Amino acid sequence: MSAILKISDLRVAVDGKPILKGVNLEIRQGEIHALMGPNGCGKSTLAYVVAGHPKYEITGGSIELDGVNVLELDPCQRARLGIFLAFQYPVTIPGVKVSDFLRHAVSNVRNPDRKEGEGLIPMKDFRKELKDRMSEIDIDSEFARRYLNDGFSGGEKKRMEILQLSLLRPRFAILDETDSGLDSDAVRAVSEGINKLHGPHMGVLIITHHERLLEFNRPSFTHVMLAGKIVETGDASLAHDLHANGYAAVRERHPAEAAEEDAVKVVTAGV
Ligand SMILES: Nc1ncnc2c1ncn2[C@@H]1O[C@H](COP(=O)(O)OP(=O)(O)O)[C@@H](O)[C@H]1O
Ligand SMILES: [Mg+2]
Repeated sequence: MSAILKISDLRVAVDGKPILKGVNLEIRQGEIHALMGPNGCGKSTLAYVVAGHPKYEITGGSIELDGVNVLELDPCQRARLGIFLAFQYPVTIPGVKVSDFLRHAVSNVRNPDRKEGEGLIPMKDFRKELKDRMSEIDIDSEFARRYLNDGFSGGEKKRMEILQLSLLRPRFAILDETDSGLDSDAVRAVSEGINKLHGPHMGVLIITHHERLLEFNRPSFTHVMLAGKIVETGDASLAHDLHANGYAAVRERHPAEAAEEDAVKVVTAGV
């Protein structure tokens, strides 16, 4: 039976300011969901909260994965349960090679009880697995010997993300791709990578403005967020419509949320 990630009436604040105001979302393994919405509506906040970032205050609601209360788990435990978040701005760690980083990350998820210095996947086995995955997604083998994200281009960072996904095989992946700095090659790399990896065992939430990303990965559901709430859910044609026509029509259909959005802008403008 496929697992379900269930977010119910989720309310989140940052520094006492409400950001998410009752988000409901259910993702099953194997489904692709797109999340869209104007800047500042709370999309990245939702991604971070699911992954367990500590800076957000949960003021109400729940997140469950097959009945397990995700909110009680730390970020590592969430990863072991099969939740993966691709960071919008990946960290650079000079001195740590891609292959070493991945070997540790994969060992942590597969051997949850391992202690520091023990339980690492044997080097020989990991090298083989890494090589296989890299050739599947067309990454040059030289890449594994480089330092993590050090001098990586946008496209290389994205390939790194896809490589992590292919090794970790999470049950639920959240890809926050809002960064408009991605060039079309990078978008294509992610898009094709997700396309290759996606199957009945992975549920995906793609946060994006890039229509191209969705062309390769046609979402079964598109959700629109406005002022911290999901106000509409449709199919792939909704994503297409939003991309072509923007959010004006959505705001007209949801005047209460649009007014809250304006209030936030006024407050921000006054600072
Ligand atoms: N760490 C933070 N401190 C203060 N405000 C924040 C923080 N993170 C997010 N916010 C605010 O939360 C709102 C939603 O932000 P975000 O989730 O990044 O939106 P999106 O990803 O949809 O553009 C914005 O008003 C933003 O200013
Ligand atoms: Mg964002």
